[in-house]
Amino acid sequence: MAQYSVRRYVMCPPAHFAVEYAINPWMDTSRPVHRGRAVAQWERLRETYEALGHQVDLLEPIPGLPDMVFTANGAMVIGDRALGARFRESVREPEAPAHREFLTGLGIDVRLPQAVNEGQGDFAWTGRHILAGSGFRTSREAHVEVEQTFGVPVLALELVDPRFYHLDTALCVLDSDVIAYYPPAFSEASRRILAEGYPDAILAGDDDAQVLGLNAVSDGEHVVLAAQAEKLCARIAEAGFTPIPVDVSELLRGGGGAKCATLELHDHNRPRAHTAG
Ligand code: ARG
Repeated sequence: MAQYSVRRYVMCPPAHFAVEYAINPWMDTSRPVHRGRAVAQWERLRETYEALGHQVDLLEPIPGLPDMVFTANGAMVIGDRALGARFRESVREPEAPAHREFLTGLGIDVRLPQAVNEGQGDFAWTGRHILAGSGFRTSREAHVEVEQTFGVPVLALELVDPRFYHLDTALCVLDSDVIAYYPPAFSEASRRILAEGYPDAILAGDDDAQVLGLNAVSDGEHVVLAAQAEKLCARIAEAGFTPIPVDVSELLRGGGGAKCATLELHDHNRPRAHTAG
């Protein structure tokens, strides 16, 4: 049954948000972004988290880094340890040191990555293991690195549809036992792994996936997700969670939604249950 816990998130205001390059199929440089709308939607998202009792820490936006609003990509963090990001595309790489410095300032031990990984875009902590995506951005080598960094088991999943280029565009962890995902985004072998590991998962359809409805943020009870994902909202409610619809349509122009704009500091205040080398 759904179980709420207070969360801590890192967000970055979309002060310099734009679509100046196209590194995923959602980005169209010929259609200008309405930045004021993006800022207003982002403010609502932040207020939504705060109204649910969560803590939001703000990362300072840097001019010239139009994707910095997508903080999920900046690192993987569990407890007092983080694995910094190493971006696939050089245009985003300057975001990585900004995240490392910020997390270090919070007292988190940030490890430098060797292989390409785009943080929580491709790594999802379930409380038992890390679900790890690859295929478009994060490399398979990074799955080994994340396993070594945190000392927890990793379940490797392969993405096959370029529209769902990060794991968090096609899969969402609702609580330690329940996930929601869009099967066509995964290779056949990965679909089998998911079906065996999560027989009770919520399966999203095309229409919900196409508005990035799975790019959602759960606190174990409330699930913040794109309002346009109407069927998914209903399925999430049937499963005993409370959907909190938000409009993040302007961020979608960059290929991201609520989760992309949210880096979670998992279990930040809780003592670590394991010691990883
Ligand atoms: N424009 C960004 C990129 O392509 C969007 C990142 C979305 N983030 C995410 N966690 N899926 O890198």
